[in-house]
Amino acid sequence: MSRNDLAAHRLRYTERVEKALDTVLPEAGTHPAQLHEAMRYAVFNGGKRIRPTLAYATGEALGVELEHVDYAAAAVELIHCYSLVHDDLPAMDDDDIRRGKPTCHRAFDEATAILVGDALQALAFRTIASHMPAAVPADARLEMVALLSLAAGSRGMAGGQMIDLQAVGRPMDVAQLEDMHIHKTGALIRASVLLAALCDPGLTSQTRGRLDHFAKCLGLAFQIQDDVLDVDGDQAVTGKASGADARLNKPTYPALLGVSEARRFARQLVEDALESIAPLGKSGHWLKAVADYVIARDH
Ligand code: IPE
Ligand code: IPE
Ligand code: MG
Ligand code: MG
Ligand code: MG
Repeated sequence: MSRNDLAAHRLRYTERVEKALDTVLPEAGTHPAQLHEAMRYAVFNGGKRIRPTLAYATGEALGVELEHVDYAAAAVELIHCYSLVHDDLPAMDDDDIRRGKPTCHRAFDEATAILVGDALQALAFRTIASHMPAAVPADARLEMVALLSLAAGSRGMAGGQMIDLQAVGRPMDVAQLEDMHIHKTGALIRASVLLAALCDPGLTSQTRGRLDHFAKCLGLAFQIQDDVLDVDGDQAVTGKASGADARLNKPTYPALLGVSEARRFARQLVEDALESIAPLGKSGHWLKAVADYVIARDH
């Protein structure tokens, strides 16, 4: 399969999730207008939509109707967009550019950006509770809420961000770095796959376990590639400042192992991920394509 096949396919996934996001986000003019305008600014600003892409590719691997996955994909992307708005705040990474545009607190102000994060997070859970099609049963939705809250919270993404902030300027070994990455990025990538898998009423524990292992490996590979792009990426392509990690003295895989060893490790993780979904056979081909893209990407 060529990279163009995936590009076209990703576009279809992106259109689907953006339609769902547009449905759940209040209109920009809704009172209080500044908050709703800023929420839309933070969501519709050119993200790659990798997490929704993984959710849809999981749905395809399991033969789930994509319209059953739309709102699970949107919920994960809302949490992700919130995490980026807060990640860029002066108290965290203090970044001015995100997705090639001024960060939310730069375009609006810090207080608005904090509220945007709060509101996007709440909206993610409302999206699962109120927008999923009736074909996805209530017990599956409940499990999705439990899973996503764990992935977003203190034992997932938010916990990982705490580890990241506390690590600044302190030496970390590979095991500690892995723990940080698995929390701050891996948890949400894992949730993207598992939420979509829960849309399949016939999901077996064996397939769930395989997909979970796939997503764990891929989540870590994704953050390693993010760290690598911070070192050797082109700012005009990544849409965010290069060298930001070194400037803040952040522990990263390239800092610890060097760029080529970090790349090698990410490749090995993707191979491990692919081995895990090999029993899915041909139906897993979009998942495989996304996994390959995660480490080949330049932004
Ligand atoms: C960036 O995520 C932040 C990380 C968790 C590494 P993405 O690279 O998916 O960012 P967007 O959504 O495409 O902007
Ligand atoms: C962010 O990691 C992880 C999040 C939970 C948002 P980074 O701080 O490396 O993400 P970028 O490089 O700013 O996108
Ligand atoms: Mg950060
Ligand atoms: Mg950052
Ligand atoms: Mg980064």
